[in-house]
Order: sequence, then structure tokens, then C-alpha cells
Amino acid sequence: MGNRNSAQIRHFRKKKQDNCTIKNTYKFIDGRKYFKNKEWIYPLPVDEEECDRSQLQHFLFHHIWEENFSSPVKQILENGGKVLDVSCGPGAWLMEMATVYGQTQFVGVDLIPTFPTEIKPQNLKFKQFDVLNGLPFNDNEFDLVCIQNSSLCFTETQWKEIVIPEMVRVTKPNGWVELMDVEFNIQNLPKNFEPLYDGFVKYCKLHDINLEIIPRLGKLLQTHSSGKMTDFNEDIRKLLYYENIDTDSKINMTRKLSKENISSFYHTISPIILPILEITKEEYDEIIDTININFEKNKCFNNMHRFYARKKLAEE
Ligand SMILES: C[S@@+](CC[C@H](N)C(=O)[O-])C[C@H]1O[C@@H](n2cnc3c(N)ncnc32)[C@H](O)[C@@H]1O
Repeated sequence: MGNRNSAQIRHFRKKKQDNCTIKNTYKFIDGRKYFKNKEWIYPLPVDEEECDRSQLQHFLFHHIWEENFSSPVKQILENGGKVLDVSCGPGAWLMEMATVYGQTQFVGVDLIPTFPTEIKPQNLKFKQFDVLNGLPFNDNEFDLVCIQNSSLCFTETQWKEIVIPEMVRVTKPNGWVELMDVEFNIQNLPKNFEPLYDGFVKYCKLHDINLEIIPRLGKLLQTHSSGKMTDFNEDIRKLLYYENIDTDSKINMTRKLSKENISSFYHTISPIILPILEITKEEYDEIIDTININFEKNKCFNNMHRFYARKKLAEE
């Protein structure tokens, strides 16, 4: 996956890759299940435990954003439109959206089939597909094309040359593209947690994953959509790990979940970053155990970003 470029995607798209060409082979590290492919840079496991974390994270983020999307498409979805979620994971966002907007058709695409195959709303379909081979849809098909929490999946070049141009291509004129992600650098990070974060950054650098891309995703959407997009917007929220008396109580309610989520995230990545760090598993786990107290004390938070823009009409 590492070095694919747009000429290669066109070639791959022609080949119309389907489910049977993806080999579902896995490897196990410390009891966690990972997709086995030497070009795969994604550092997270693809097992039931990770699906549970992803569900928890969905409810946490929904609570903070209050809405599942920021693009002005509510009316279209109520009347009946078409929505694509790129690298949808287990599909928690789509399951909720498809239930709320019964008139709209929803499609989720992911390389790993952790999404539900049977128990799901009728207006929701999932497709196993490698996004780096281009999206398996025609031009101008969707009213809303989203990607969420996927900064660890692609290199900066892949975002610029494949993911963003493909999302723009399959969006209808007047439709919306929306990118959501949470920065990984926790503000006011406690000193004892720094080695864990540094280990994670080191892993990402080794695999050409640029964590600093997240606040720039909106800019990349502007510069890599061949001038086809307009009406650029950005929404920012804070993911708090502490109680803030100045903030409304709804946001404060999430801090327990935020801490659970970050602690679960660092447990999840331990098999891949422990080999880089010079500490034992016991020392690593002890640092995670301090999240509850230290993140509260230091008033830690992350910035969450949503970027959304409209595809121009031909005459614009
Ligand atoms: C952190 S998860 C996010 C899932 C979902 N969007 C969410 O917000 O919960 C990233 C997802 O990207 C998928 N992924 C990574 N590389 C991919 C690729 N090349 N093509 C399609 N999906 C990919 C992974 O399998 C994983 O399900």
C-alpha cells in the first residue's frame, strides 16, 4: 500500500477489485488479532475488543459533537439521499445514521470486515474494499462522503493523492465531503506519560504516518480537490479529561469515558510500541493506571476537528 500513486489507482479501479481478491489473513501479537499484510501501516488490532473500543468511542464523540455530522445535509437525509462512510470500521456511526434516516441509503467501506453482515438496517450496506485501490463507486454518486478517525490508516501522500481525490470524485455536485479526526497530542500531558506518547510517535514516523496531519486535513481538502470544492468549514471541539466548571455539564459527563477511551487506546497499542520503548509491560501498565488522577490534575485535553466542504456545480 505504501507507495501507490494516482496512475496506479486508475489501473486498479479498472480491474474492479471485489471482495474475493482481498485475502483475510491475520497475525496474533500478545493475544490481539492484526491484519497481516506487509504494506499495512495501520497500528490497531482488528478484533472484537477493538470493535468494543470503537463503539465506546463513537458514543463519546457523538456526545461531544451532539450531531453525527456538521455538513448541512439534514434535509437531504430526511427526504432520501445517499451517504458513504470511508474506512467505516465496525460501523457504529452508520448503524445509528441508517436507523435515524430511514429514507437514505448508506454504504460503508473498509478493508477489514469487522462490520455487521446480517443484523443491520435494510438501508445500510457494507463493502470490503481497500480504499487505496480507489473507491468502488461511480463519479458523483453520494450526497455526503465522510471519513472519521482514520489518520492512522494512510500516509500523507496517500491522503493527498488517493483518499481525498477519491472522496471528492464520488461526491455529487452540491454534495458534501466531511473529515473528522482527533489530535493525538494530548495538551498538558503529564511527564510520566511522555515516554508512551513518544513511543507512539516513533512508531508512526517509522511507518510514514504523519500525526500532525489532523489539524491540516481541511487544508489538504482545499489543495487536493482539483478546485472542485467550495464553502470550506471547520468545527473544533475539545475532548476533556478533567472536570471543567466553566463548561456545560454534558461535556463534563464525558470525561470518565474520555479517560476510559485513552487508557484502552494505549493498552491496545502496547504490543506495537513496547518493543520500541525501554520499559517493561508492568511499568507501561502502571503509567496507564495514573491516567485517572494525572489527566484530571493537569487538565488534559485533545482538540477534535471536523472539516467539511461542498462540491461545486459544473457551472460554478
Ligand atoms: C480507527 S478505525 C476508524 C473506524 C471508523 N471510521 C470509526 O470512526 O470508528 C480505522 C479503520 O480504517 C480501516 N482501514 C485502514 N486502512 C484501510 C484501507 N486501505 N482501506 C479501507 N479501510 C482501511 C481499518 O480497517 C479500520 O477499520
